[in-house]
Amino acid sequence: MDMDIFELMKKGGHEQIIFNYDKETGMRAIIAIHDSTLGQTFGGVRMVNYASMEEALRDAMRLSRAMTYKCAAAEEDKGGAKAVIWGDPERDKNEAFLRAFGRFVEMLKGRFMTGPDLNLTMKEGSIMARECQYIVGRSREEGGSGSSGITTAYGIYVGLTACAKFLWGDENLKGKKIAVQGLGAVGEPLLGHLIEAGMEVVATDANEKTLQRLQKQYGVKTTQPHLVYEVECDIFSPCAVGGILNDQTIPKLKCQLIAGCANNQLEDEERHGKMLQDRGILYAPDFIINAGGVIQVIDEVKGYNPDRLRLKADLIYNRLLQIFEMARREKILPMEAAIRYAESRIREIHKIKRLHVPK
Ligand code: NAI
Repeated sequence: MDMDIFELMKKGGHEQIIFNYDKETGMRAIIAIHDSTLGQTFGGVRMVNYASMEEALRDAMRLSRAMTYKCAAAEEDKGGAKAVIWGDPERDKNEAFLRAFGRFVEMLKGRFMTGPDLNLTMKEGSIMARECQYIVGRSREEGGSGSSGITTAYGIYVGLTACAKFLWGDENLKGKKIAVQGLGAVGEPLLGHLIEAGMEVVATDANEKTLQRLQKQYGVKTTQPHLVYEVECDIFSPCAVGGILNDQTIPKLKCQLIAGCANNQLEDEERHGKMLQDRGILYAPDFIINAGGVIQVIDEVKGYNPDRLRLKADLIYNRLLQIFEMARREKILPMEAAIRYAESRIREIHKIKRLHVPK
């Protein structure tokens, strides 16, 4: 193998990469711990049938870095990490397989907390939790906080009002037109907020049945998934998958603002961020506006409290405004400003880490 993992870690600023293999069930997982300066690390676990180990590793490394920034910017005392299980979500998972993953996480003794992400559900998280105390994103019946999509959607809505304030001088979203891509755990509750705010919504989803059901329920206009980029609107809200802001899609956009929940929306952070700016489109950095979910799972450890969660998610408003203003002042891209914002907090807290506090 000519891939130098240490070189990749050095470049990405990663602390630790753990390869986990269970001989009996064949469970293969990579846990990437990016930065634990701020404390115990948090990040979801996803299951994907990657084409290669390298693809799985790169995904874990990229996502764990975003988690460090997300937790730091959200003022949480948590670091960033991510786990990927390399396997076919349709075929490979069974009880022993999922519990094997739980055992590997338990071995880290709380250095890493995780919960179900892409292709894994709360039900499967609860199976992992039979072997492990460090699984969050649990159901209400099991003492957890339920779907994190609810707080994420609320945070997106709050973030949209901040973007409107910055861009149009008024946070009122009434009458603004928004195109929403993806109506899943976040997109669906988001629709409720948008309609309540009096916005004109055009929605799409790759799943035709979901689209039809929600069209009936909310009375929104719909479009085909491949046409969503061309919708003439004020706001485009990517709430499905990452990497959708790229060379092919950016030239098609007819909006002034991009603000949605999908992680890693920009295929290339710098180049595509610049392309958007050149086209006069404001980009709300994903890990700032979509922090509602991580805020919820971190808070879950203290016991579910919806009022406290809302108050914490409300802070996204000022945080976004601060970042947009920093970007304008320093003449940098909003994404760069968001990274500086998160990194400056990590640097600050790093200073006090030398003080030994006896336990
Ligand atoms: P989900 O899996 O519940 O929903 C995604 C929806 O998007 C599905 O209905 C799917 O059919 C649709 N979709 C997939 N590809 C599409 C495409 N190309 N065009 C149109 N629709 C498409 O996922 P969830 O939880 O709603 O998350 C959405 C995004 O937000 C993901 O990128 C996720 O990583 C991110 N995110 C989610 C958080 C949460 O609390 N659930 C928190 C922060 C980020």
